[in-house]
Amino acid sequence: MSKAETFQDLALAASKTDQDLWRWLYTELRAAILDGMLKRGGRLPSTRSLAKQYGVSRGTVVAAFAQLHAEGYVHTQIGSGTYVASDLPDQFLTPDRNKSARTLPLSKATLSERAKETLKNILVVPTPSSIGKAFRSYEPAIDLFPVDLWARVAARVLRHAPRSLYGQGSPAGYQPLRRAIAEYIGGSRGVRCVPEQIIVTSGAQQALDLLARFLLDPGDSVWMEDPGYPGAWATIRAAGGKIVPVPVDQDGLRVAEGRKRCPKARMAYVTPANQFPLGTTMSANRRMELLNWAANAGTWIVEDEYDAEYRYFGKPVAALQSFDRSGCVIYVGTFTKMLFNALRLGFMVVPERLVDAFETGRSYVDRHPPTLDQAILAEFITEGYFGHHVRRMRQTYSERMSILKEASDKHLHGLLEVTDAAAGMRTVGWLRTGISDKTAAQRADRLGLETVPLSTFSLEYVQKPGLILGFAGCNPGELRRGVSVLATALQPKPALSRASAERAEVGEEAG
Ligand SMILES: Cc1ncc(COP(=O)(O)O)c(C=O)c1O
Repeated sequence: MSKAETFQDLALAASKTDQDLWRWLYTELRAAILDGMLKRGGRLPSTRSLAKQYGVSRGTVVAAFAQLHAEGYVHTQIGSGTYVASDLPDQFLTPDRNKSARTLPLSKATLSERAKETLKNILVVPTPSSIGKAFRSYEPAIDLFPVDLWARVAARVLRHAPRSLYGQGSPAGYQPLRRAIAEYIGGSRGVRCVPEQIIVTSGAQQALDLLARFLLDPGDSVWMEDPGYPGAWATIRAAGGKIVPVPVDQDGLRVAEGRKRCPKARMAYVTPANQFPLGTTMSANRRMELLNWAANAGTWIVEDEYDAEYRYFGKPVAALQSFDRSGCVIYVGTFTKMLFNALRLGFMVVPERLVDAFETGRSYVDRHPPTLDQAILAEFITEGYFGHHVRRMRQTYSERMSILKEASDKHLHGLLEVTDAAAGMRTVGWLRTGISDKTAAQRADRLGLETVPLSTFSLEYVQKPGLILGFAGCNPGELRRGVSVLATALQPKPALSRASAERAEVGEEAG
C-alpha cells in the first residue's frame, strides 16, 4: 500500500471534529505554499512535529497532508518525508479564499474618468425584487405570471430544439422571435417594419445603450424630456453625449422649446405613448411637429415604448414610428414589463440602413441574447399566450389603478392627490401637505413603502412636489395597506413654529 493510500484511509477515518481541524490545517498549509512561505521543493516539517506545533493529533496532520498530496501540492518520498511540489500548475488559477480582495495591497489602477462621471450621475438603482412591496413602480404583477404555462412551453422548446440552437446565434437575434415581434407590434402598435429590422436586446436598457454607442459622438447634443428617464441619461452621458433638457406639458415634449435651445440635436429621446414619469400622451400635433423637425434637422428620434401596451382609457395612439416617413425614428420595446423583469429581453426596430451596422457592431458588445430563452419567448408569442397575458394584465392593472385611486381619495385627502393613470404601471401623487417630495419619500421608506420623489426625474425644470407610485405589481390588499401606511407617513407633524418646522424639514432631508 502506498503512503498516499494510507493517508487517504486515515483522512476517511477522521472524526467530524477532526475533519474540521484537518480541513483548516490543509487550508493553512496550502496558503503557505501558494504565498511562498513554504518554498517549492522544500521539505515539510514531519507530521509529528506539526501535530505538536498546532496542538492537534497526528492523524489530523496526516489527513491534511493527504489532501495536499491528492491535489498535487506536495509529494512524498518514502523514508525521506513530504516535499512541496516544484511546479504548482494551478497556482494562479486558485483564488485564495482566506485573503479577501480588500486586504490585498491597493494597486494604483483606477476607474476611467468617464465611468466616474457616469456613476456620479446615476440616481436610481433598481434593487432586487421584493414582491408586492407597495408602491414599487418598475415591476409587473409577477405573482400573476403563468409560470406553469411558461414552464410547459420552455420544456417543449428545449426538448425539440435542434443542436444548432446551442451554438453561436445571430447578433440581431433569433429569427423566429424577430418575426413574431414584427408581426405583434405591427398589429398592436402599428409599427411598420420587416423582421430584419428587429434587433433583439437585453431589455430596453441595452437598446438605449447600443443606440447611444452607435449613433452619438462625444459632445453631440441629445434632447431629453424633462422630467424624464434617468436610465436614458446614463447611457447618453456614458457615450459622451450632451443632454439638452426639454420641458414637457400636457401634449408631451415642447418641440418649440427644444428648437430654441438646440435647433440641431443629434438625437431626441421621447416616451410619447406614456410620458415617463408624468404619464401624459403626446398629442397628434406635437408628434407631427417633432417628426418634421427631426426630418429637417437630420436628427434621430428614439421612441421608448416601455409599457405602451397598458392603456386603460383614452384613445390609443399608434406608435410615432408608424407616422415616420423619413426613417428617423428608432422604436424601442421590452418584454420585461410585459412578462417579467428577469427575462431581460427587449428589442429595437431600426431603419433598414442601420441594420448591418447594428448587427456587426453588436457582435462585439455581447454577441447576442441567449438563444434558448429567445426561442421560448418566440413560441410563447406565436402560440398566442403573450397576447392573452397582456390582455389579462391590462384588465388587472386597470382594476389595481382604480383601487389605488379609490383608497387614496378616501384616505389621503388633503395629503396626496393621486392621478388616475390612463396608461402604464405607475402614476403620480401630487403632494398637498407642503413638504418636499424627498422628505415624503423618506418618511414612506421608513414605514416600508417604496415611492420615488418626482424631483429625482427632473433635470432643470422644477415640478410641483409629487411621488411616483407603482400599482401594477401590488395586489389589492397590498395597495390598500400601502395607502393607509402612506397616510400615516404624510400626516403633518404636530404644530410647530414656522422656523422650527423648516429646521425639522431640513433635518429630515439631511438624515
Ligand atoms: C422609460 C423606461 N425605459 C426603459 C426602461 C428599461 O427597461 P428594461 O428593464 O427592459 O431594460 C425602463 C425601466 O424601468 C423605463 O422605465
